[in-house]
Amino acid sequence: MDSKLITLRPFKLSDADDLMSYAGDDQVTRSLRWKTLTTKDEALTFIKDVCIPHPWRRSICIDDRSIGFVTVFPGSSDDRHKADLGYAIAAKYWGQGITTKAIEVAISQVFKDSPNLVRLQAFADVENKASQRVLEKAGFQKEGVLRRYGYLKGNIKDLNIGEPNLLHVKLDPESN
Ligand SMILES: CC(C)(COP(=O)(O)OP(=O)(O)OC[C@H]1O[C@@H](n2cnc3c(N)ncnc32)[C@H](O)[C@@H]1OP(=O)(O)O)[C@@H](O)C(=O)NCCC(=O)NCCS
Repeated sequence: MDSKLITLRPFKLSDADDLMSYAGDDQVTRSLRWKTLTTKDEALTFIKDVCIPHPWRRSICIDDRSIGFVTVFPGSSDDRHKADLGYAIAAKYWGQGITTKAIEVAISQVFKDSPNLVRLQAFADVENKASQRVLEKAGFQKEGVLRRYGYLKGNIKDLNIGEPNLLHVKLDPESN
C-alpha cells in the first residue's frame, strides 16, 4: 500500500455504508467497546451523534473512502494534558501497514491541534498482538502492564500501556 494514498479526515454522513464494512463486522468490533452495528440507520446515527461531535475522531481513508478510524479521547479538567488513542480498520486491509501510517499521521496532527496535550497514551489488550505490534511500529514505548484495568464486553482485561517516543516518530509523515 502506497502510504500517500492513506489520508485522515473527519467523518461525513456519506460514510455510512463504508462504516458498516468494519463497524458491522464482529471480527473488528470484538476488540472495541462499540456494539457491532447492524443497519445503515444505526451507522448514520453513530456518525451524527458520536463521530461528528467528537473532538478528535478521524476516518482513515483510501481514495476518500472510509476504511477505519483513529480517535484521540482527550482528558478533561485536571486530565486535559493527556489523551487516549483508539483505532481499527476493516479486516480486508489488515496487515498492510495502514494503521501504523494512520497513527503516525494522527500523532503529528493531534499535537498541533491540541496545545494543552503533553501525553498521548495507548492501551492494548495483552492478548491483542496486532494492536501491540502496530503501536510498537508507530513508535510507542511500552511502559508496563496494567493488571485487570480494562473492561471489554463482559471481560476484565490486562492492558499494556505506552506512549510515543516523539523522537522516533517522524514529525511530518505526510511529507514522505
Ligand atoms: C489492530 C489493527 C488496528 C491493526 O491494523 P493493521 O492495519 O493491520 O496494522 P499494521 O498492518 O500497520 O500492523 C499490524 C502488525 O501486527 C502484526 N500482527 C497481526 N496479527 C498478529 C498476531 N496475531 N501476532 C503477532 N503479530 C501480529 C502484523 O504482522 C503487523 O506487523 P508487521 O508489519 O511487523 O508484520 C487491526 O487488526 C484491527 O482493526 N483490529 C480490530 C480492532 C482493534 O483491535 N483495535 C485496537 C484496539 S486497542
